[in-house]
Amino acid sequence: MRLLVTGGAGFIGSHFVRWMLAHEPETRVVVLDKLTYAGNPANLADVARDPRYRFVLGDICDAAAVDAVVAGCDAIVNFAAETHVDRSILDPEAFIRTDVVGIHVLLEAARRQGVRRFLQVSTDEVYGDVAVGSSQEEAPLRPRSPYAASKASAELFLQAYHVTYGLATLATRGSNTLGPNQYPEKAVPLFITNAIDDQPLPIYGDGRQVRDWLYVEDHCEAIRLVLERGTPGEAYNVGAGNERENLAVARDILRLLGKPESLIQHVPDRPGHDRRYSLDTSKIRALGWRPRYDFETALARTVEWYVANEHWWRPIKSGEYRAYYLRNYQDRERLLAPQPRRA
Ligand code: NAD
Ligand code: TYD
Repeated sequence: MRLLVTGGAGFIGSHFVRWMLAHEPETRVVVLDKLTYAGNPANLADVARDPRYRFVLGDICDAAAVDAVVAGCDAIVNFAAETHVDRSILDPEAFIRTDVVGIHVLLEAARRQGVRRFLQVSTDEVYGDVAVGSSQEEAPLRPRSPYAASKASAELFLQAYHVTYGLATLATRGSNTLGPNQYPEKAVPLFITNAIDDQPLPIYGDGRQVRDWLYVEDHCEAIRLVLERGTPGEAYNVGAGNERENLAVARDILRLLGKPESLIQHVPDRPGHDRRYSLDTSKIRALGWRPRYDFETALARTVEWYVANEHWWRPIKSGEYRAYYLRNYQDRERLLAPQPRRA
């Protein structure tokens, strides 16, 4: 199989590329990635010399660049996206461009060039806040952040291309993922790297929000299974059933690093912050997927990686990211200043 992996230089995409090359000897992988702040060639350094792997620098919104790499590909797995909810609140436009317009460019190329399978890596955030119970795939999409709205829009285009043009589309709706190589703006790597430096762990609002944590290798295995065995036109929830409050995750990280809980610092809440996500994963389990990592193992492996790989994250935290980090907290305070906090 010749596989195009868009966004393969990011967190989950790079693990997926490594996973496919390791487990499928017949597969050749082309990565198309724009290398935004979140893309990092170092994530793929260990496969760079594999003759079955090729990297192309390019934007999924650029139809000519996309056409060139889609030529000859059997399947596309799209990881390329703007991915951080806080950034989507500060600058929604970038999300509409890559996460919506970019998907349309990819779908068009796939349709015209007769690609056999198109898998969109989507998110549990498309369901919006889940106060009780767990979302099944048929549940309505009720996105509440600009990020989630852009990912839900992409899924609607996927559905339209399946129904209208018969393109064999698939979507995975993964839950919050943790593991090595995650950009330290997301909660887990931010908390770990701040704790290593004895810096405060910023907890939004009361910290009682619930996320369902999934180890990156389990996420990759699920994507591979859906790519190979999923039913065209369908979406599949991917979650390991590790629902945890943010405060509990922060405390676990501090305990693993031997740091005091006094580093926990409550800061103003994220506007429109979803309280809880929860997935019913019967559908993907029926395909044969099971998570291999429990939460404790997943978190311990992740903490160990950040402790051992300071050379990966220190340059990130001292550069462009630092300006964003400071601005994020200033802007959240400004956004929330005139009104009382909303749920
Ligand atoms: P990431 O932010 O680490 O990486 C995104 C990658 O996409 C980067 O390499 C970036 O350079 C590339 N990219 C961005 N815009 C591009 C463009 N216009 N053209 C080409 N490349 C572009 O993201 P991630 O956390 O690895 O997430 C990957 C996918 O999985 C995303 O689609 C995200 O919505 C989805 N997802 C993530 C999580 C999570 O917890 N991280 C959970 C569920 C689903
Ligand atoms: P995040 O990793 O940004 O993922 P998402 O918003 O896509 O779920 O955040 C995970 C949870 O942690 C979410 O409820 C927001 C919260 N959070 C904090 O409390 N403090 C932080 O500094 C960040 C980045 C997130």
